[in-house]
Amino acid sequence: MNETLVIIPTFNEIENLESIVGRVLASVDADILVVDDASPDGTGELADDLAARHPEVHVLHREVKDGLGGAYLAGFAWGLEHDYWALVEMDADGSHRPEELPRLVEQLIDHDLVLGSRWVPGGKVVNWPRRRELLSRGGNLYARLALGIDVRDSTGGYRVFSAAALRRIDLLHVASQGYCFQVDLLWRALERGLRVVEVPITFVEREHGESKMSGSIVAESLSLVTWWGLRRRLAAIALFLRHGRRLRSVRALSHRMLPPVRP
Ligand code: GDD
Ligand code: MN
Repeated sequence: MNETLVIIPTFNEIENLESIVGRVLASVDADILVVDDASPDGTGELADDLAARHPEVHVLHREVKDGLGGAYLAGFAWGLEHDYWALVEMDADGSHRPEELPRLVEQLIDHDLVLGSRWVPGGKVVNWPRRRELLSRGGNLYARLALGIDVRDSTGGYRVFSAAALRRIDLLHVASQGYCFQVDLLWRALERGLRVVEVPITFVEREHGESKMSGSIVAESLSLVTWWGLRRRLAAIALFLRHGRRLRSVRALSHRMLPPVRP
């Protein structure tokens, strides 16, 4: 058994799964957990087949499509139960390059949460439609303003958590279902004072299959982020009125950006 577990949520990723599993195994000493939500295209069966061929690969089958958040929560629970030291989030479609993973995992030495970041100096997106880039940049700007945090890419899905960090985050009460799950976990980590770092990555748009991003995922993010920001401001006002004390700003909490890598 390896110390690192790469969790790959899948819904209709039959054209991508075999390639991503091969690239992960070639890039790092890690086990893989595929979390499949009964994909109609047979991704779950392919995952079972890969697990039979590679001892590092494990599969969690869920009965219904229940969102990215639910899939990761199930994956984290499995990984913590099996005592992994580092738990990685990675998309199945090749957007998150496994070849960059050693650079991310390395940072766990003195951080609790490592964010692969498209929007720090040195970070890039390749082949992303203009519309998606605007949505991501706009969403990240909104999250920074609403939550008062300085993180450039709070919605990205290429991350490494230490097991200790996940144990400190109250996973039982995470309600976000869609991609807002990413902001939710980051926000919880910052509020608990965990050490967060952004590492530049190159995000490559998928070649096969389709994105599961939808209007309802955007709407969920917008309303939850607004609510969290408001709730923190209300808490700050209440604390000030009652005790005359100021709430520590989340911006001041530990967060760093790594400089870009020189090739
Ligand atoms: N099990 C499961 N259940 N997997 C899911 C579900 C679900 O309901 N919805 C999506 N996935 C899987 C996809 O199969 C893929 O492996 C991964 O989650 C990400 O989904 P994509 O549909 O490829 O996401 P994207 O490329 O549009 O979005 C990217 O940007 C988002 C916003 O920055 C990803 O990097 C996301 O992680 C990120 O939040
Ligand atoms: Mn994708």
